[in-house]
Amino acid sequence: MPIGPGSTIGVIGGGQLARMMAIEARRAGYRIAILDPDPTGPAGQLADLRIEGAWDDVGPAQELARASDVVTIDTEHVPADLLEAVSAHAPVRPSAAVLRAVQDRRAQRRFLAENRLPQVRHALLSRPADLPAAVERVGFPALLKTSRGGYDGRGQVRVAAAEDLPKAWKEIGEAPAVLETFVPFAKEISVLLARTEAGEIRFHPIAENVHRHQILRTTSVPAEIPSELVARAEEIGRRIATALGHVGMMAVELFVTNDGELLVNEIAPRVHNSGHFTFGACATSQFEQHLRAICGLPLGETLLLRPAVMLNLLGDLWRPGPPDWTAVLRHPSAHLHLYGKKRPFPGRKMGHVLVLADTVEEARRTAETIAIDLEGLDESRREGPPGSGT
Ligand SMILES: Nc1ncnc2c1ncn2[C@@H]1O[C@H](COP(=O)(O)OP(=O)(O)OP(=O)(O)O)[C@@H](O)[C@H]1O
Ligand SMILES: [Mg+2]
Repeated sequence: MPIGPGSTIGVIGGGQLARMMAIEARRAGYRIAILDPDPTGPAGQLADLRIEGAWDDVGPAQELARASDVVTIDTEHVPADLLEAVSAHAPVRPSAAVLRAVQDRRAQRRFLAENRLPQVRHALLSRPADLPAAVERVGFPALLKTSRGGYDGRGQVRVAAAEDLPKAWKEIGEAPAVLETFVPFAKEISVLLARTEAGEIRFHPIAENVHRHQILRTTSVPAEIPSELVARAEEIGRRIATALGHVGMMAVELFVTNDGELLVNEIAPRVHNSGHFTFGACATSQFEQHLRAICGLPLGETLLLRPAVMLNLLGDLWRPGPPDWTAVLRHPSAHLHLYGKKRPFPGRKMGHVLVLADTVEEARRTAETIAIDLEGLDESRREGPPGSGT
C-alpha cells in the first residue's frame, strides 16, 4: 500500500537534507516530522511536528516513529540498532541492515570487496599493531580515515611517510580506521539513483564533483565523461543498491583514474550534496524521488532540464554577517538556496547556488564569477595586504 499525501514522513536528523525533503514533502501535501537535537534547525523550521532529541536516543526516535507513517534519515550516522528499535512502530527506509553495511567505513569496504566491486586499495585497522602490515599493503601517500562518524573530510589525515603514521593515528583518536592509497584521480563523479522496494531503479544524470579541502565545492552536469563510463558507473550503482536491498535515494562517489578505471570511494544511502543540482535542474529532484521511493510510489522522471553547476556556500563567506546576495541574484540564471542555519563557521555548509545555462561551460563561468564576487565583495574584510585584491 503506498503511503499517500496527507501521511506523515518522519526524519531522524534535521539538517539541510531533511529541510529539502520537507520542502518537497509539503509541496506534495505530506506532513513532516523532524527529530533533531536542535528542533529549530534547518528542517525543524519547516516541520509540522518537531521532536527534540539526539539521533542516538531511542525514546525520542520511537516517539517520532509513532507519529509517522514512514521514517527515514538525513545522516547515515544514526545508529543501526536505534533504527531497528524504531522499525517496530513504523516502516524505516533505508533499513537498519543497510546502515549496518555502510555506516562503518570498514564494513563498507568489506561489503564492496565481498561484492567484487572496484575500490580504492586499502587496509582495515583495529589497533596500532595492524599499522605495519597496512603500510606494506597501501604504500604512500595514503589517507587514514576513522571508521565512524566522518564527514566533509573530518576524521581524515593525509600520511606522506611511515614516520607520520603514529601521529596520524593519534589525530584520528586511536580508533578503528581504514588506511587508503591516495588516488591521483582524473575526475570525481557520483552516481545518484533511487531504488524502490520492488527493485525498480532510476538514475539521475551522473554528477561531476570538485572538492576543496575535502569538502564538495562544485557539482557540474552533465559530467564530461564518455557514455561508456556512464554505463559502467551506473552498473556499479545498480549492483550496490541491489546487493544492499536499499530503498530510497543513494549516492555512490567514484574516482575516475587516468586510465579510465572506476574506483568506489564512498556509498551514501541517502540524498546527497552532489545531487542538490537535481532540485531545480531535473524534472524530479532527489528529495522528491527519495520520498516517492520510501512511500512506495512510482519513481519520477530524472531528465536534466538544463546544464547546471551547483556551488556550495560555506560559513567562511560569513565574516561574520552574510555576504551581499546581489552577487548571486544579479545573475538571472542563478538560484540561491539557504538552509536557515543560525551559526556560520568555517567549513559549515550554509547553502548553495544553482546556476542553469545553455552549456555546462557557461554555467561554470557564471558560478566562478559568483564565487569570486562573494569572496571579495567587502575589501575591508578580506585577508591579505591592503589593496591586493582588486
Ligand atoms: N583515497 C583517496 N584518494 C584521493 N582523494 C581522496 C581519497 N579519499 C578521499 N579523498 C578526497 O577527499 C574527499 C572526501 O573524502 P570522503 O568522501 O572519504 O570523506 P567524507 O568525510 O566521508 O566526506 P563526505 O561524507 O562529506 O563525502 C573525496 O571526495 C576526495 O576528494
Ligand atoms: Mg565523500
